[in-house]
Amino acid sequence: MARGPGSLAGVARRSTFVNLARNALRPSYLPVMLRKIKARLRPPNRDEALAWAFEHAESVESFGESLAPELWAEANHWADEFEPQAQSILSTIGVPLGGGGHHRLLYFLTRLTSPATVLETGVAAGWSSAAVLSALSTNGSGSLWSSDFPYFRLENPERYVGCVVPEELRDAWNLYIKGDRSNLAEILPKCGAISLFHYDSDKSYDGRTFAMDAVASHLTPECVIVCDDIDDNTWFRDWVLKRGGAYRVFERGGKYVGLVGL
Ligand SMILES: C[S@@+](CC[C@H](N)C(=O)[O-])C[C@H]1O[C@@H](n2cnc3c(N)ncnc32)[C@H](O)[C@@H]1O
Repeated sequence: MARGPGSLAGVARRSTFVNLARNALRPSYLPVMLRKIKARLRPPNRDEALAWAFEHAESVESFGESLAPELWAEANHWADEFEPQAQSILSTIGVPLGGGGHHRLLYFLTRLTSPATVLETGVAAGWSSAAVLSALSTNGSGSLWSSDFPYFRLENPERYVGCVVPEELRDAWNLYIKGDRSNLAEILPKCGAISLFHYDSDKSYDGRTFAMDAVASHLTPECVIVCDDIDDNTWFRDWVLKRGGAYRVFERGGKYVGLVGL
């Protein structure tokens, strides 16, 4: 591929730089952007985290089938129908929005636990949001509270947040997009006791520590907690070993998801 200033790669790099600079000037963006840069300078213990996750991983299919085979089959059916619809929306948008969470597992857990309140951090295109909202709709009750921070390398990134979430499911959705620190301060006093919590936003060790400390007193005693990308650093391992009790680890596409509460 040509690499000169006029090449496609050169144009993409320039527009990413322009978007970063523009977004940094917007109110509330700069502090979150600076925290992310700082987190990237810290060694994340990724190899150690990956080895631990690999060693503890179990099959998500066996987990689902052993707990509730009919709901696991329903989750698979929902995901098989939803995936092509979401992919078709994403292909028309044409900008990379990162990978989604474990939407099949989240649909299953939402159906299994019938939560009144679900909290998630990290929305992006909205795979996880769509999974939870679809399952809540089938349950006939419950609401989803989501905290996101738009991808600041894109131009006007707010327009892409939750783009795969079907319009008819949005009544049960409360979406906040100013970053976890600001969003959780607004959400937590309003949302009620949380019985399903999906963490998929700031993957740094500090970001995870901040969010879990912030939400801890708002979780029901039976709350199911799902953490995505636990192989990015040793936060999940350190947290579950410190709190004691059971935990589970599932592999998905070479990445790992952690779960407590079941
Ligand atoms: C991996 S994506 C989430 C994927 C989503 N759960 C899904 O299933 O489609 C991570 C999202 O978290 C957002 N994010 C990153 N840092 C954040 C922060 N400090 N506060 C809130 N959201 C953040 C990213 O911009 C991105 O939108």
